[in-house]
Amino acid sequence: MPVLVAPVAYQRLVDPEGEAATARAAAGAGTVMCLSTLATTRPSELATAAPNSRRWFQVYCFEDEGLTLALIQEAIDSGFEAILLTVDAPPGGNRERDRRTGFRIPEGLGVPSVEAALGSERAVTIEETFGLMDRSLGWSDFEELASDCSVPVLVKGVLTGEDAALAVEHGAAGVVVSNHGGRQLDCTLATADALSEVVEAVEGRATVLVDGGIRRGVDVAIALALGADAVLVGRPALWGLAAGGERGVLRVLDLLRDELALTLALCGCRSPKELTRSYVQRAPMAPVYSGQMHASTGF
Ligand SMILES: Cc1cc2nc3c(=O)[nH]c(=O)nc-3n(C[C@H](O)[C@H](O)[C@H](O)COP(=O)(O)O)c2cc1C
Repeated sequence: MPVLVAPVAYQRLVDPEGEAATARAAAGAGTVMCLSTLATTRPSELATAAPNSRRWFQVYCFEDEGLTLALIQEAIDSGFEAILLTVDAPPGGNRERDRRTGFRIPEGLGVPSVEAALGSERAVTIEETFGLMDRSLGWSDFEELASDCSVPVLVKGVLTGEDAALAVEHGAAGVVVSNHGGRQLDCTLATADALSEVVEAVEGRATVLVDGGIRRGVDVAIALALGADAVLVGRPALWGLAAGGERGVLRVLDLLRDELALTLALCGCRSPKELTRSYVQRAPMAPVYSGQMHASTGF
């Protein structure tokens, strides 16, 4: 099942069981669930609630290294098999739609793992948590973290071959080609456009995952054909959770699996491994960068 569940924050916003329901659904679909640093369920709690699930932990680096290490340690002690270090946030992007709709995390819905590590007796807000994060992380910091970690560490948020090669050279077990679902840097690359360059730069030395806009089995097939080892889905799993809890997430994952199987069969492939570059070609594309030049401003 080459579709993993991406880390998505605050899942108890959409379902009372939140991350536990997602993890159980991922296990039911035979895949991995990635737990966000900003989860409403802490790693140890998730391990108890979904003991048979395969779990990875997504971490943000905090200015207080002790806090980062405490989160990672809790995850490792709770049977999480890998760490995804997200590097395309902080700071948080300028989410204008959230402002327009007046979206707010309800008071009292905190981040239990961060609260436990800080020894806080009240719920910490998303703004407070982002405020504690390290915005100046460099490759040497990453290397130290990866070498001290007893499980593989992947870098999430890579969009160029150059960064992918640097990640591997500094000890990454893999990279996730991601633009955070388009929620961070405006006008950034589409991950489908960045993927080939990353695959070439990694040269088989590490795992290459990709996310962003995977909605159908055919999207999974295209990503695999472009050289990804697997994909992650963020919003589709969250929509499943909102619509039907654990069963909703499982349904989304089953649909993706069935659609991928159909796509493979129609391509004449017996397994995902048989998908190669030759199965895809670039669609004629509008010039994204220059756009329709405006005569007076030239932009
Ligand atoms: C509501 C929401 C919350 C997210 N929270 C996190 C997070 O806490 N950590 C992280 O690394 N990525 C987070 N992401 C990004 C996802 O992990 C993933 O990169 C992205 O959603 C993939 O695009 P897709 O939603 O089109 O599948 C979030 C995305 C969404 C939509």
